[in-house]
Amino acid sequence: MNTQIPQFYNNKDLIYDEIWNLLSRGVVDRGEDFRLPTVILNDGKLSDGRVVVLRGAFKDINTIRFHTDYRSDKIRILKNNNNIYFVFYNKKRKIQVRVKGTAIINYKNDITQKAWEKTQIISRKCYLATNPPGTASGSPTSGLSNELEGKNPKIDSTEIGYNNFCVIDTKISEFEWLYLASQGHRRAKISLVSENKFTSEWVTP
Ligand SMILES: Cc1cc2nc3c(=O)[nH]c(=O)nc-3n(C[C@H](O)[C@H](O)[C@H](O)COP(=O)(O)O)c2cc1C
Repeated sequence: MNTQIPQFYNNKDLIYDEIWNLLSRGVVDRGEDFRLPTVILNDGKLSDGRVVVLRGAFKDINTIRFHTDYRSDKIRILKNNNNIYFVFYNKKRKIQVRVKGTAIINYKNDITQKAWEKTQIISRKCYLATNPPGTASGSPTSGLSNELEGKNPKIDSTEIGYNNFCVIDTKISEFEWLYLASQGHRRAKISLVSENKFTSEWVTP
């Protein structure tokens, strides 16, 4: 439990800023807990979750971003139901942030082009699997061909992966904040009304 009271403890405006601060740091710092949120989707009947890497946090447009394979199950689910939910937890700071929003699938557009250019070879390899993610296999497999297995390909030979690459942007409608502290936990709901405008209320933790 935290013993020092941070400035945001009883201040919802500072909580809002702290959320974006943690999200922004998650994008640039591999060591940040907020880099690896769990993303939850619902196909109409069942919910399922998976960990992704946070690739963008744009406070001015209430948007966060991750990359994925266009052939993956996520895309099928999101095309039917674009409601999306993220859970972040920073263990050291004892802060949980839950994010509700709607997803936009970017595929072969300006956004994916710019993101792909910045994607390093090691990450591009994720998009080079022969079969779609989730394809059953009779033997243990990475999904990569023999030529790529265990190797670092030249950048040119990763370009084909762009066909499988997509960028999921989430327009955020709500944050739910939970801060654990020995003095008393704090919970707040922040509804994002429009760009950089929000309403907020305290909630019993
Ligand atoms: C640390 C870590 C980071 C991951 N990052 C991503 C990611 O950025 N994008 C992604 O699509 N899958 C990522 N995955 C894999 C997903 O958790 C999931 O297994 C995969 O996307 C297939 O999920 P699906 O059933 O939704 O298609 C990551 C997994 C781990 C453990």
